[in-house]
Amino acid sequence: MAKQFDVVVIGAGPGGYIAAIRAAQLGLSVACIDAWKNAKGGPAPGGTCTNVGCIPSKALLQSSEHFEQAGHHFAEHGIEVKGLSVDVARLIARKDTVVKQNNDGILFLFKKNKVTFFHGTAAFTGQVDGGWAIKVAGAAEEELVAKHVIVATGSNPRALPGLPFDEKQVLSNDGALAIGAVPKRLGVIGAGVIGLEMGSVWRRLGADVTILEALPAFLGAADEQVAKEAHKVLTKQGLKIQLGVKIGEVKATAKAVTVNYTDAAGAAQSLAVDKLIVSIGRVPNTQGLNAEAVGLKLDERGFVTVDAECRTGLPNVWAIGDVVRGPMLAHKAEEEGVAVAERIAGQHGHVNFNTIPWVIYTSPEIAWVGQTEQALKAEGRAYKAGSFPFLANGRARALGDTTGFVKVLADAKTDEILGVHIIGPQASEMIAEAVVAMEFRAASEDIGRICHAHPSLSEAVKEAALAVDKRALNF
Ligand code: FAD
Ligand code: NAI
Repeated sequence: MAKQFDVVVIGAGPGGYIAAIRAAQLGLSVACIDAWKNAKGGPAPGGTCTNVGCIPSKALLQSSEHFEQAGHHFAEHGIEVKGLSVDVARLIARKDTVVKQNNDGILFLFKKNKVTFFHGTAAFTGQVDGGWAIKVAGAAEEELVAKHVIVATGSNPRALPGLPFDEKQVLSNDGALAIGAVPKRLGVIGAGVIGLEMGSVWRRLGADVTILEALPAFLGAADEQVAKEAHKVLTKQGLKIQLGVKIGEVKATAKAVTVNYTDAAGAAQSLAVDKLIVSIGRVPNTQGLNAEAVGLKLDERGFVTVDAECRTGLPNVWAIGDVVRGPMLAHKAEEEGVAVAERIAGQHGHVNFNTIPWVIYTSPEIAWVGQTEQALKAEGRAYKAGSFPFLANGRARALGDTTGFVKVLADAKTDEILGVHIIGPQASEMIAEAVVAMEFRAASEDIGRICHAHPSLSEAVKEAALAVDKRALNF
């Protein structure tokens, strides 16, 4: 006999598990199905983000940053370190522990909120009386009937044509987070978010890292001034970044990988590395859903087609997160999950795409919200800009980390904040103030008039806001 639910969520990544919890909070009966297996074959809810994305990458970034600090920066503080070494197996094991804590945390939250969890692969089998029939293929087969279905099946790494991931020599994010020993030479194709974060991890641990990027501009989505600063700093740290390349034949053997490519000047080049990370974007995942059979529409790039409120063309079938249009970010997936759960419960869910922050967790961190200066120029919008360097911030000097700046962009007439761009220490935390301000449609003067603790890095945000009217106090 099929089990009946108000809502069945397919996928327990940040989109799916958050949607399930919110729907349960609103009094709906909810099931969540997820296929991810841990090393022992057991459930590992949390999706890409928890298992091979946000969480493990930040664990490795933290460990490698400690190593870099101990090796290169402790001496400035009078701390001498002798015989410094890194045990990669322990570093990876710690990362695995952090991942497991998150998996277990989600299982706990499901119990607490009375969400029924099924471990297995879900597929639509058709429309029945009372909703949609869903089959779960896992340790045990289950038949469910759902009044509403939320598809939150995420994304997979994009491979280069003809170069499948073997996760030994040719690595996706999965393999890049589990390298057993520091490679002497590491190649990365794609200077996007994964390339820069994972390239930073392995460079800090001692690898000679070369990143090959197809586009002529570095970090094209970021504010140009920030991208320029990031390129300068990351290059100085030792990342070899080549822009405007065209990747040719890639030959992988058990021992090495050779990447043939044309450089920006049109000259033929060849790069030999021990391991190669391919991080050239991700593709939406609808495998195994039986989507076509039930008429779930996909666009030409494979994303589930949805309207502005995440409704698919099928009645009471919704889709959220990486499997639909928009930025592939965990917090965007979560916001859509909450909004859809609230819409199902008859409330008015809300996602503001203009205030979704972006963060790249390199050192210095890069974070932004809203529009870039080049986008405002292209739009012909009259704006004012104010910047403040961390060099002039007391807390940054005490930290010994004065790289970067904060830039605030505001409408020339109304002073409404249109964008905030930060490159510097703790940018990931500081951007939250800008998101709140923009969500409340604050003016730059509002931030300039708010009391910020001293000494704190966030004073640089206040000073940049003051600089919009040319009245920064400390610069
Ligand atoms: P996913 O997290 O991909 O989850 C989908 C889940 O659905 C998976 O568990 C999958 O097994 C399951 N599933 C799929 N099909 C089925 C089926 N038929 N039946 C049952 N289960 C199914 N974003 C950030 O915001 N910040 C970061 O710092 C960040 N770092 C990242 C680092 C890396 C290396 C990578 C790869 C990504 C990172 N991201 C980050 C992006 C983030 O991971 C994704 O945007 C996010 O995971 C998307 O969430 P989702 O719920 O849509 O899908
Ligand atoms: P990305 O879209 O960030 O970067 C891919 C890069 O590869 C681009 O610069 C692109 O121009 C380049 N590229 C594409 N094809 C190429 C080719 N054939 N040769 C050379 N270069 C090529 O994608 P990435 O880094 O794979 O990450 C996927 C997504 O995961 C990100 O877009 C982001 O949404 C998410 N993510 C978010 C993180 C965060 O929020 N901190 C961290 C890591 C990933």
